[in-house]
Amino acid sequence: MKIYDLQIEYNQALQAATAELKRGGIVAFPTETVYGLGGVATDASAVRRIFAAKGRPADNPLIVHVASIEQARALSRPWTSLADRLAQAFWPGPISLVVPASDVLPAEVTAGLKTVGLRMPDHAFALDLIRACGPIAAPSANSSGRPSPVTAQHVADDLDIPIVLDGGRCPFSVESTVVDCTGLVPVILRPGSITREQVAGVCGACEVAQGVFEPVDGQAKSPGMLHKHYAPKGEAVVVMPGDTALAHMLALYDEAAKAGRSPVLLLAEENVADAQGRAYIPLGTKERMASGLFDALRKADAQQADYVILQGTDTAGSGLAYMNRALRAAGFRME
Ligand code: TXA
Ligand code: MG
Repeated sequence: MKIYDLQIEYNQALQAATAELKRGGIVAFPTETVYGLGGVATDASAVRRIFAAKGRPADNPLIVHVASIEQARALSRPWTSLADRLAQAFWPGPISLVVPASDVLPAEVTAGLKTVGLRMPDHAFALDLIRACGPIAAPSANSSGRPSPVTAQHVADDLDIPIVLDGGRCPFSVESTVVDCTGLVPVILRPGSITREQVAGVCGACEVAQGVFEPVDGQAKSPGMLHKHYAPKGEAVVVMPGDTALAHMLALYDEAAKAGRSPVLLLAEENVADAQGRAYIPLGTKERMASGLFDALRKADAQQADYVILQGTDTAGSGLAYMNRALRAAGFRME
C-alpha cells in the first residue's frame, strides 16, 4: 500500500490517483467529512471493486461525488428544484442530495434504485481528482460495519488497497447529511453536519425519515439504515440525557468494573472531570460530539474495552447526527 502525504507530494499524488482511477482502479481519498473509497462512477467494474474491498452489501448504494452543479444535473433525471436550492445553499459541503438517477450510471452504483445520492465535497484534493477523472462513486473507506475513517491510518487499518491519499484528519469527521430531494418536502435519511434546521431554513420545511432513530426492518427509504453500523468490538450502550445521566453512566461503569469487565466512558469534554479515576475517551465539546465519535470508538477498540458507555445528548442541531450514529453503534441499546 502506498500512502501519499498530500502536504508534501500533492501533484505526484494527484497524478498517481488519476492514473489508478482511469485504469479502473480504486483509491482512498480525503473529504471534509470522512475518507472515501472512490472509483470512476460510470465504470461498473471499478464500482464492483469498491463493494468487494469494503465487504459492502450489494443492496447499499454509493454516493457519487461531483465537482459542479452541471455535473450533478448530467447524472440526474431530472435534477429537482429542491436539490437545486440545497446545492446552491450548501455545495461544496457536507450534504448529499438524493434525486432520480440518469441511466448513464451503472446499476451497481445505485444498487438498482431509481435514485442516486450526489455530493460536491468541500475539499481541494477531492475536487481536483473529480475534475481529472469525472464523477467519482465513493462510500466511506472503512470495512463495512466499522466506524467511518477520519484519518488515513483508519483506512490503512481496515482496507487492503494500493493507494491512500493522506490529507490529515477530516475536519467534520462525520458523514454528510443525506437528503431525499425527490418529493415536495426534503426528508433527512441520514443526519450530518448540515442540520435539519439549516435545511428547513432553505426549503421552508424538513422532515426526518423514520429509521433515523429506531431500527427499521423490511422497507427502508435508505438501504444504509438496515445495516449494522459503526459498531465497536465491545458491547455498547447509550445513556439518554437527563439530570441523572452522568451519575447513571458512572454507576454502570463501576458495576462493570466490579464484575471484572473493561468499561470505558465516551463523553463530552465538559464532563470529563466527573470521570475521575475511570477509563474515559473525550468526544470533544458538547457541540462537536459527532466529530469525535468515530475516532473514540476506534480508540475504545484499541484499548480492548468490552463495555462502551456513550453519553447521550438532545437531538437539536448537531445532536441529531451524534445520536443517530451513537444509537447505531450501540445496536439501539439505551439506558
Ligand atoms: O460524507 C459522506 O457522505 C461520505 C464521503 C466519502 O462523501 N460518504 C459516505 O458514503 O458516507 P456511505 O456509502 O458510507 O454512505 C452513503 C449513505 C448510505 O447510508 C446509503 O444507504 C445512502 O447514503 N444512500 C446512497 N444513495 C442513496 C439513495 N439513492 N437513496 C437513499 N439512500 C442512499
Ligand atoms: Mg459508510
